[in-house]
Amino acid sequence: MIKFEIKNSEDYNKNYSAAIQNPEEFWATIAKKNFTWKRPWSKVLDWDFSIPKVSWFEGAQLNITENCIDRHLETKGDKTAILFEPNNPNEPSEAITYNELHKRVNQFANVLNSKGIQKGDRVCIYLPMIPELAISVLACARIGAIHSVVFAGFSATALSTRINDCDCKMVITSDGGYRGAKTIDLKSIVDTALLDCDGIESVLVAKRIHSDIPMVSGRDFWLQPLLDTASEKCEATVMDAEDPLFILYTSGSTGQPKGMVHTTAGYMVYTAYTFKNIFQYEPNDVYWCTADIGWITGHSYIVYGPLLNGATTLMFEGVPSYPDYGRFWSIVEKHKVTQFYTAPTAIRALAKEGLEVVTPYDLSSLKILGTVGEPINEEAWHWYNDHIGKNKCPIVDTWWQTETGGIMISPIPNSFEGKPAFATLPFMGIQPALMDENGVELEGNSVEGRLCIKFPWPSMARTIWGNHQRYKETYFSAYDQKYFTGDGALRDENGHYRITGRVDDVIIVSGHNLGTAPIEDAINEHPNVAESAIVGYPHDIKGSALYGFVTLKNSDISNDSLKAEINQLISKQIGPIAKLDKIQFTSGLPKTRSGKIMRRILRKIASKDTSNLGDISTLLNPEVVETIMKNSL
Ligand code: WT7
Repeated sequence: MIKFEIKNSEDYNKNYSAAIQNPEEFWATIAKKNFTWKRPWSKVLDWDFSIPKVSWFEGAQLNITENCIDRHLETKGDKTAILFEPNNPNEPSEAITYNELHKRVNQFANVLNSKGIQKGDRVCIYLPMIPELAISVLACARIGAIHSVVFAGFSATALSTRINDCDCKMVITSDGGYRGAKTIDLKSIVDTALLDCDGIESVLVAKRIHSDIPMVSGRDFWLQPLLDTASEKCEATVMDAEDPLFILYTSGSTGQPKGMVHTTAGYMVYTAYTFKNIFQYEPNDVYWCTADIGWITGHSYIVYGPLLNGATTLMFEGVPSYPDYGRFWSIVEKHKVTQFYTAPTAIRALAKEGLEVVTPYDLSSLKILGTVGEPINEEAWHWYNDHIGKNKCPIVDTWWQTETGGIMISPIPNSFEGKPAFATLPFMGIQPALMDENGVELEGNSVEGRLCIKFPWPSMARTIWGNHQRYKETYFSAYDQKYFTGDGALRDENGHYRITGRVDDVIIVSGHNLGTAPIEDAINEHPNVAESAIVGYPHDIKGSALYGFVTLKNSDISNDSLKAEINQLISKQIGPIAKLDKIQFTSGLPKTRSGKIMRRILRKIASKDTSNLGDISTLLNPEVVETIMKNSL
């Protein structure tokens, strides 16, 4: 029997094989039994990866916010939906019940309507981790507007690129935000960005830091007075299953960021189902994911997945180091957190601070620990398991991507065990394939190759906004009839997967996905830079850090202030997260005869792994390799 709840290995085995043998029946059963539909579907799945086209639950109508909020009101109206923990530990936390969330989302949705936002319009959300962020996301979904959340650490240039790429009509922001001891002046970043954005008609501004900021008359509006007078009722707009729900930008190995488009019904079904089972959520649990809603983890596993399950989801405004490195654990103790989901980079940073900042806190409420964003090294896994989980909490190492919408490969507590550094087994309906260098699928166990997915799943991104051709080329062209993830992986003797890392020019720094091309573009804007190449190298805390090889037009001025200028350019174009840890000025870059930079060699030099550089005789300029090696940092 197909079950929504997977409680043991028998459930997992039965459900997994049902979802592989008859995916349509499987997903139709899950969808029908567990959600509210305004009209049923006429076709469960229609797909062809060669176009590529994927549609789930075609013909169905629904509104995701009715599934996230309205349907819980009768039985869970007074339950906390969002538990907000502010940056400053002395400021009280705020518990927003499902009843209150309903009211606030409706009011916000009416404000959007009053400013002319209609179904299908794009709304850019550029907010810190405050309740308005989750509420504005849901308010957009209430009226069928497509939200495009931009992480509030991105620069004005990065923001304007994203606003223009999908022609947003509105920006929702705040006067500023708190991050540890710092305040961030978000509104001025928006003002700068909007100098380059003609399509923005209005800017809604939430008050957070109560700073005195300029407001452009006729364009900028304080949010609170509008909310105060807005009606608490807002009929949910009827959406088709495949109507876009949101756009979220992610880096590619080349070119501008890709606006991944996620649609409504499939995304809803898959995020709800994965959340319930991977985190084994029970009615009185308090679930906390430390990600920012500006990333896919926050969309799927702070907002949608938990609320679809009627869960209590904690939103934390601050950073792990403020007011000290015990903050995460003090929050776990304070709110009796039961599921805790974070990134390996945070685990490594906290482990470095020693147990003095962990042991004062009572972590006995914890039941399940999660990790996401990059491969977790065994040392960090064991520290997490021993000192946070006290060897009694299963660790779910969840592998997935912005593009996949939901978790794809992960342990399921009580069904089968995790293993350090292994994402383990695919979730229901997920069909991984490992490919060799000739494009042939590797059969059997104990093999390593490039990770593809052979069959559609409900929450996969449907296209890249405005560029379906790029969607096809990036994900469906490397291997026939398969979605290519960009990751390498191995399958061990038991069929368990270990993700080995990116096989393209995307570098994961502190769990953030960074493409090399936009960083190189930013550096190359410096008047004295001739050329540059960015590679990743192993870093104790960040997982990978960025190493830039830069050739100058005038090498006499290669000095530290030039390095600082380069990092300033990167901060301005992309954001501080993309700054380089090391910059090496060099007289040339190793190139093939066709002029392509050989990053493979640079990667080895940056990683201090130069014992075997491979064949460099085919290079146009082999002599440069020696010099770069001699001067490497
Ligand atoms: C890339 C996707 C999905 C949420 C956060 C990142 C890497 C992600 C794991 C994991 C090994 C992982 C992959 C993937 N990644 N989770 N558990 N083990 N690698 O989303 O920014 O779209 O990045 O993150 O390389 O392709 P994203």
